[in-house]
Amino acid sequence: MTQTATVSMDKIVSLCKRKGFVFQASEIYGGIGNTYDYGPLGVELLRRVKDAWWNRIVVERDDVVGLDSAIIQNPKVWEVSGHVGGFSDPMVDCKKCKARFRADKLEDARCPEKPSKIPGQCAGELTEARAFNLMFKTNIGPVEATGSTAYLRPETAQGIFLNFQNVMNSGRLKPPFGIAQIGKSFRNEITPGNFVFRTREFEQAEMEFFVPPAESDRWYAYWREQRYEWYLALGLDESKLRMRDHAAEELAHYSTGTADIEYEYPFGWGELEGIACRTDFDLSRHAEASVVDLRYFDPETKERWFPYVIEPAGGINRMALTFLIDAYEEQPLEKETRTVLHFHPEIAPITVGVFPLVKKEGMPERAREIEAELRRARVATFYDEKGAIGRRYRRQDEAGTPYCVTIDGETLSDDVVTVRHRDSMQQERVKSAEIREYILEQMRTWKRPQREG
Ligand code: GAP
Repeated sequence: MTQTATVSMDKIVSLCKRKGFVFQASEIYGGIGNTYDYGPLGVELLRRVKDAWWNRIVVERDDVVGLDSAIIQNPKVWEVSGHVGGFSDPMVDCKKCKARFRADKLEDARCPEKPSKIPGQCAGELTEARAFNLMFKTNIGPVEATGSTAYLRPETAQGIFLNFQNVMNSGRLKPPFGIAQIGKSFRNEITPGNFVFRTREFEQAEMEFFVPPAESDRWYAYWREQRYEWYLALGLDESKLRMRDHAAEELAHYSTGTADIEYEYPFGWGELEGIACRTDFDLSRHAEASVVDLRYFDPETKERWFPYVIEPAGGINRMALTFLIDAYEEQPLEKETRTVLHFHPEIAPITVGVFPLVKKEGMPERAREIEAELRRARVATFYDEKGAIGRRYRRQDEAGTPYCVTIDGETLSDDVVTVRHRDSMQQERVKSAEIREYILEQMRTWKRPQREG
């Protein structure tokens, strides 16, 4: 059993606040339910997760391009996509305490007045289930009149379908090709929770891959595998990851296949990302409603057809949380327990901690020079000269910094520094002129450490 099996959400929440990953939003006013702000380390983690996703999906490929579409679109979009009519959860109200719960998740909920009971098993009686639409409504313009209603997008995917033709024509693209987008989405979740796992405002990373219909099964299998492999390549524990295929009765009516990549969180298995074959549902619905022909025209065969769509859809915040939970270890040492985040170096918020051994004899100045060289080479660093060297290592372990470079008296004479590795805690002497190359090589060859239970 790995150490991560014992991680509790309380420990993750506390570490996130202590180290500046995640704070409660509007904290000085008592917060606002299940809404969070990301601090200096958190924002770096999110950026790196986004970069890792974008690099894999767009930069490293020649068949996927990017898009950044508006959050507020013509409200018709959400009628046609089915979100106005069908994007809802069944909801019940307690007639006694007036709290509202998801009817299909009652066993996960607690009565606010009697937390030992689930709603309905306390003194309160529940109403019949009613559909509650998850979209956030707003108004365009200064007057709240009929016709001014608009919605904050509940998914980034529709913006991609709306621009299918613009992107295809401007880029002279031919299926199979994909359009990727990262951006904020909003859902008025009835039961947000488990920290940043489910919130009302979150960032999605979605890609719609448009293929000839006859090739859709092959591409669906391909993207299932690609996405699963990406999580493993970024160091997730394979024993906590699984692919769950949706049963026929779970599938959306238009989908010929959907699977969730699931992770075993401290609160149980949960969806990390979904991969779905959406057939030609979205393009054909938008074509019909807008009366714009959204079919692909094949100049060779002179045929027009709607491509099928394979969609890998994940949440950036959920990915970052998963990497954080998976990286967390409380490692018993001889005299203490060290808390360490074993992030893959590609997503670690800080790559190198730079320390002068002592605050004198020219060591801080040399350390500053080495730090500046690394920064110029786009290596994220953190300079620290406060406290005992062991304490400084521990602080970086908790931030997930994979390497620390210490400048000591010898550095000034022979220009050799000590590199200390976060995972093994081993130290090596490296020529300061080679430090950048050395760090980059270490990052390239990093392997998830074996952890003892
Ligand atoms: N376009 C398809 C779509 O939006 P989804 O399963 O509803 O599919 C995709 O969302 C991903 O977005 C989820 O796998 C999850 O990672 C993330 N996500 C969805 N709702 C979320 C929420 N309320 N908070 C955080 N992440 C969420």
